Amino acid sequence: MKINMSDLKKQHDGLRDDLDNVIKEVIDSNAFILGGKVTEFENDYSAFTGAKYTIGMASGTGALHVALAALDVGIGDEVITVPFTFAATLEMIHLTGAKPVLVDIEPRSFTMDVTKIEDAITDKTKVILPVHLYGQMADMDAIMELAEKYGLKVIEDAAQAQGSSYKEAHAGTIGDIGTFSFYPGKNLGAMGDAGACTTNSGALADKMRLLLNHGQSRKYEHIIVGYNYRLDTIQAAVLGVKLKELSKWNELRNKIASIYAENLKDTGLVLPIINKNRNHVWHQYVIRTGKRDDLKEALSDLGIATALHYPVPLHLQPSFAYLGHSKGDFPVAELCSEEVLSLPIYPELPAATAVEISQEVIKICKRLEI
Ligand SMILES: Cc1ncc(COP(=O)(O)O)c(C=O)c1O
Repeated sequence: MKINMSDLKKQHDGLRDDLDNVIKEVIDSNAFILGGKVTEFENDYSAFTGAKYTIGMASGTGALHVALAALDVGIGDEVITVPFTFAATLEMIHLTGAKPVLVDIEPRSFTMDVTKIEDAITDKTKVILPVHLYGQMADMDAIMELAEKYGLKVIEDAAQAQGSSYKEAHAGTIGDIGTFSFYPGKNLGAMGDAGACTTNSGALADKMRLLLNHGQSRKYEHIIVGYNYRLDTIQAAVLGVKLKELSKWNELRNKIASIYAENLKDTGLVLPIINKNRNHVWHQYVIRTGKRDDLKEALSDLGIATALHYPVPLHLQPSFAYLGHSKGDFPVAELCSEEVLSLPIYPELPAATAVEISQEVIKICKRLEI
């Protein structure tokens, strides 16, 4: 058995003619910076998410930076987020000069524990930044209620949540700004780095368009200090082709998740839950067990790849030691980092293979007494 964590080759083989054609179109047009294909994708993504505006970005990391800058987050401000996320979330808060203030997560949805937010709010708090981890949205009603009560802004880190929704609202369309990553392995992935911000505010959309392109209202007229976070035109063209497949791909991911849920329900593994009012798009299928490392090794011996998202919570990483946290500060994030294991889940994974993986997991669980 040889099962990887994704199969982009298969994904691209299935779309090869369309991908070749749009890339050729960009080459023939000789327009490599912004232009038609970027606008086309932005409009398509707005139609897909229901956001009024989509602003293409060079990456999910760049999208976070631009979102924070658009809300004037800077030195002296605090941004409330979670320690159990990819480093970019905290890095971009740090980059603005603001302080990341952390609250713990829920143990089975892995999203922000909204009961912990109010205690973390101070007179310096400017933004609440929940992360829709693994494809499931945080409790947006509770977050928006607190934001309103205390006059705070909300940025949704929806890097892992393309297609996900809360009630009827797509990820990234409830808060002031949503940020997306289109890193190749994401549910919607480019063929290189790419990202986007979504918003329903025309003023924020305008400001983000300035920020991503050196603050230029037109060439060499720099009305604010900006950056270069332009979405690459070839990546926009690729994303346009793949976006048409996203709903189907998310359904296939959901089918794999159902197979794992059904087959593994009688093991001692802690399975992920879907919170009320959520549509989970299963960027990752993450189980928990105290015997995680043994299970990972046993699956690896069989040729089944797994991954750890994330083995060390950010408050215990050397890069964020300056925040002054220690072990025990965020017990759920710490427990999760010791116990989580991501099983293979991607649209191209045959259902029969997901059943086989489940059967192997069951056998190992019996052997390891999980
Ligand atoms: C939650 C989260 N935020 C931000 C990012 C950064 O996105 P990118 O890699 O496109 O810069 C990622 C990427 O993995 C992510 O998972």
